[in-house]
Amino acid sequence: MAVYKDEMPRKNVEVHKKYGSVVRIGPKHVSFSSPEALQTIHGNRQAFPKSDFYKQTVAQFEGLPLYNLFSIQDIDYHTSLKKRIGGLYTKAAVADLEPNIDACLKVFKSELQKMTQEGPASIDMSLWVHLFSFDCLGELNISKPFGFLKSGTDITGWIRGSDRLLIMTGLYAQAPFLQWIQKMMEAVWGMRKTNPILLKTSSLVQERIKMPTSAPDMLNKFLNLQESQPDKITRREITGSVYINLMAGHDVLAVTIRAILYYVARTPSVEAKLRDEIAALSSRYTASELIPYSALMDLKYLDAVINESLRIHGNLGLVNERVVPKGGAVIEGYKLPAGTIVGINPWVIHRNPEIFGPDVEVFRPARWIDSPEEQINEMKRNLFSFGAGPRMCIGKNIAMMQICKFIVEFYRAFDAKLSHPEQEWHVVGNWVTKQSNMDMEITQHKETLS
Ligand code: HEM
Repeated sequence: MAVYKDEMPRKNVEVHKKYGSVVRIGPKHVSFSSPEALQTIHGNRQAFPKSDFYKQTVAQFEGLPLYNLFSIQDIDYHTSLKKRIGGLYTKAAVADLEPNIDACLKVFKSELQKMTQEGPASIDMSLWVHLFSFDCLGELNISKPFGFLKSGTDITGWIRGSDRLLIMTGLYAQAPFLQWIQKMMEAVWGMRKTNPILLKTSSLVQERIKMPTSAPDMLNKFLNLQESQPDKITRREITGSVYINLMAGHDVLAVTIRAILYYVARTPSVEAKLRDEIAALSSRYTASELIPYSALMDLKYLDAVINESLRIHGNLGLVNERVVPKGGAVIEGYKLPAGTIVGINPWVIHRNPEIFGPDVEVFRPARWIDSPEEQINEMKRNLFSFGAGPRMCIGKNIAMMQICKFIVEFYRAFDAKLSHPEQEWHVVGNWVTKQSNMDMEITQHKETLS
């Protein structure tokens, strides 16, 4: 019911406050909030398999389910695929993709500069951040932005379609008996029909095979791997991998960037510190140059702002569901039979005061700098925004490069305040916690003008 009412993150936090660290939230569902449970369920090598929730995320392709790293439930197949392609996602492996991010950042900046040419403009930053995220992932994966930024709209309808699919996936997975929801899904994009992002991915993969390029992008990394070691990856796995890179990345990336812009705008002392740190570095570059990612790695306050935003606004608002394996398990002293659905909701563990301090509801990046070292390490271990253990986000290195570069270039080029600070934004309280109602008054930053 909490998912249906769009309030699951907050409800999940409330029930843990009331009943403690172990709460039964459904007939076979148990929600946990402790670091020990995080390790047992998600974190260690023997982490539990994903539940049937993830069945809802499997797209149909050429008449069969198309599995990818995200949707695979079978542990052996997941381990094998990750072993084969994991090397393509390391920090070193994705470093050559930086120019793809730069290309999108330039378009983003220039579009906002056009809109603010005559002075301050009120801009729907919830939308613009999403337009950037989607185009940038197009550029990173297939060297093609989808035209979101240039058009300034959800030109393909993919953002609206994804929003609806995510909401319905969250709902349907909580109440599998609601068959009518599946029918609704079929009416939108269809669990049986191929969804348009997958169709586009598949046609781009075929096009690239016919007309190879040497562009640095994820598709070429997969194709090069196949060429050099044909047994490492199949054409179907390549299609599935590019598809999930697009699907798993665009909305959560946008959620993260929105959270940073929103909380920084609401906390002037944080904005001042962040701007000071960026300005000190920025003075070494001309206004039209983009600062290389390697120079951003030492920005300690930026790192703290990103961590704190990831903490206070979990990208996923439901328990990340796993299944107790054969033989059952004991978690926090409770004996749980095989088949029980267990897991952690990022909103819950991120508001555990024993880990993050008594002021968990406050946006305070400094906690990542001035807390005792032991506590900082504990906070890092329990920051669950990118997941944990074997099923942790494999795109994290790409995402961090996108986030750091976007934030630094945004504050170098623009001043931004909430157009309606008296209003709260709207947060979807379902699987992906998308925010809307965050128009911002954007002005060109004076150093850029000079
Ligand atoms: C801020 C941005 C991002 C966040 C917060 C994020 C978060 C997550 C989380 C929490 C998971 C685990 C989900 C679960 O267990 O249900 C995950 C998995 C995954 N993410 Fe990300 N993600 C981000 C960006 C990206 C990007 C940019 C890509 C690809 C380019 C990507 C690709 C994937 C893939 C393939 C998986 C499945 C990994 C596996 O199970 O082995 N993500 N992500």
